[in-house]
Amino acid sequence: MYKGIIRPILFKLAPEQAHRLIMDVLHYLHMIPFVPFLLKILYHYHDPRIAVSAFGLTFKNPMGLAAGFDKDGKYIEVLESLGFGFIELGTVTPKAQSGNPKPRLFRLKKDQALINRMGFNNEGVDALVHRLKKLKNRDIVIGGNIGKNKTTPIEDAHKDYVVCFEKLHAYVDYFVVNVSSPNTPGLRTLQEKGPLNKILSALQKRNNALSDSKPLLLKIAPDLNERQLDDIAEIVLINKVDGIIISNTTIARSQLKTDPQQIDRIGKGGLSGAPLRNQSNNVLQYMTNRTKSKIPIIAVGGIFTIQDVLSKKKRGACLYQVYTGYIYEGPAMIKKILKGLSAKV
Ligand code: FNR
Repeated sequence: MYKGIIRPILFKLAPEQAHRLIMDVLHYLHMIPFVPFLLKILYHYHDPRIAVSAFGLTFKNPMGLAAGFDKDGKYIEVLESLGFGFIELGTVTPKAQSGNPKPRLFRLKKDQALINRMGFNNEGVDALVHRLKKLKNRDIVIGGNIGKNKTTPIEDAHKDYVVCFEKLHAYVDYFVVNVSSPNTPGLRTLQEKGPLNKILSALQKRNNALSDSKPLLLKIAPDLNERQLDDIAEIVLINKVDGIIISNTTIARSQLKTDPQQIDRIGKGGLSGAPLRNQSNNVLQYMTNRTKSKIPIIAVGGIFTIQDVLSKKKRGACLYQVYTGYIYEGPAMIKKILKGLSAKV
């Protein structure tokens, strides 16, 4: 139904418009009493044997929705009905910002990929907190992915992360420090030893002072070299970071089937989906070895099938997230993957 009817219609629209339209339609449909029930029958899969415990949290299943899909927490109830084990909201910044000019999201159908340069468009942390406060009876793990405003000088970045952390603290189950988006100028330089240590130590200082400290995770880029990955592993261990998310989108454009002229016309942005898979898996394997499997890893990048999940599992991941695969495969993919995982237990 999704691939045969809904996707062809959505793919006729501009990608950002299609995303907004389908999610708004689902949001309103979800208010009709029998719809959540129907969605759960269609898309939920329950098997306690595939539940995962990591960094002190229990995930009813290991398939999560990656950051960027529901930046402002508008669709949590719908996404819960669609069978995810966890949802990562954000990236959210202290102040609302509109992001880069449109168009800023592009489909590469031949490659089963997307290129985006959204630039952290979001309504700001206060709007997200407001929505989370109103949420009733949630039964799903929620992560808060935090970042800096474009206008904040890079040397003050840690202050933005702390603001988001403090405001969101009571309303999310774990935090993700996003220093890996390619679409905010200078952001990825925060993955270097000095700046990264400054951000993580400032956050952990706040976190440790609280009676209910929250797991703090770091999301990294797939474009880092071994020296940079070694530095990150060291800083992560020093700051007792609870987990690593591997990976964000790549700035690479290698081995694409799409016409190179079209790629040139699209211009800057992060590439996600199938062409990211191997690169992301290589970084995952490297970090698993480097951290001696001491730190739980959430793997994201190019997941479409159970085979993609199993190859990330083999490389040391315990939880998985999807974004681009979900756009191409549709909501049935989560249940399919979960059934596949059950069959392997
Ligand atoms: C993203 N991603 C992302 N990541 C993040 O940490 N914060 C964000 O705000 C966003 N925004 C965003 C927007 C869009 C349109 C896309 C496609 C992606 C990256 C995302 O969470 C994920 O790490 C990558 O897309 C790789 O996974 P997939 O897409 O290959 O499954």
